[in-house]
Amino acid sequence: MSWRVLGFESSCDETGVALVEVPAAGPPRLLAQALHSQIELHQDYGGVVPELASRDHIRRALPLARSVLQEAALALRDLDAIAYTQGPGLAGALLVGAGVAVTLAAALDKPSIAVHHLEGHLLSPFLSSDPPDFPFVCLLVSGGHTQLMRVDGVGRYELLGETIDDAAGEAFDKSAKLLGLPYPGGPHLAKLAEKGRKDAFPLPRPLLHSGNLDFSFAGLKTAVLTQSRKLEASEGSRADLAASTQAAIVEVLLKKSMAALKMTGLQRLVVAGGVGANRSLREQLQRACDRRGVRLHFPELALCTDNGAMIALAAAMRWQAGLACASKATSFEVRPRWPLGEI
Ligand code: KG4
Ligand code: ZN
Repeated sequence: MSWRVLGFESSCDETGVALVEVPAAGPPRLLAQALHSQIELHQDYGGVVPELASRDHIRRALPLARSVLQEAALALRDLDAIAYTQGPGLAGALLVGAGVAVTLAAALDKPSIAVHHLEGHLLSPFLSSDPPDFPFVCLLVSGGHTQLMRVDGVGRYELLGETIDDAAGEAFDKSAKLLGLPYPGGPHLAKLAEKGRKDAFPLPRPLLHSGNLDFSFAGLKTAVLTQSRKLEASEGSRADLAASTQAAIVEVLLKKSMAALKMTGLQRLVVAGGVGANRSLREQLQRACDRRGVRLHFPELALCTDNGAMIALAAAMRWQAGLACASKATSFEVRPRWPLGEI
């Protein structure tokens, strides 16, 4: 038996559709995927406009699904189930993906599977060329979440620590905005930081020595605001502030991840979520893990940020593990706020 699942991701500003197959033995396979990013649509507003996001998901979902099936040379009848992101995320945007997936599944008389967006991120490294084994520590760093988790198996997640205010991605995005960079700021700030000195500005490392695995990034944003007011308008000093900001965020993520490994005694670290695409974070984590003999796993860059593959994968892995409710449903609900601990 194998589990071949078409997944829809529509929790925020990316419409992702993908087809994943989990065989009874052997690693999961990504058969095809398609993604439409709404960055251009929201750029003039400096952030995501929920109503515009929902309307664009409506336009994209089915054409993307068609192109995925075409790429995989498969037909709708070849699918075993259809998955969608149930939450957390923007309510209207989630409703589009859920509506499309459940309707399509009902029309085909196949089951639909609701997926937690963060579980998608958490399991996404299983689609990489170097998939991890359980158990591992997961550093989950996205635009809305920053968490350290102990992962013992599919559905067996223990929260070790999380942010008490802003997420790491938010810290990148808000700091980037203060530096006059376009939305979404994270990748732009990272690019500008390449030209700057990371020790140019003294910025706080919140909760670095708190003795627990929680994070706080709200104070960093305030410090960046204070420093940005002092900036001369030169590109050079903006790059210095970008580099200093990135260094502060990366140092906290790095040290807390190492503390989580020490606390759990585990020898494997998985990094997931959009901030996991940050090169400086990847390089520094790799060095620190090499020094400690810890195995480090990343999803491929394109699978760090939101995508349909992680949703199809999480559904298929949960189904295989007997955890997913793969029901022939004709109704659905979305969960815009949904702590991972509740799945
Ligand atoms: O996981 P994701 O695509 O969406 C959420 O679930 O939130 O993460 C998006 C976040 C944004 O804050 C974005 O700025 C950040 O990931 N990000 C980056 C980089 N690429 C994406 N942050 C720093 N450096 C990057 N290269
Ligand atoms: Zn995400």
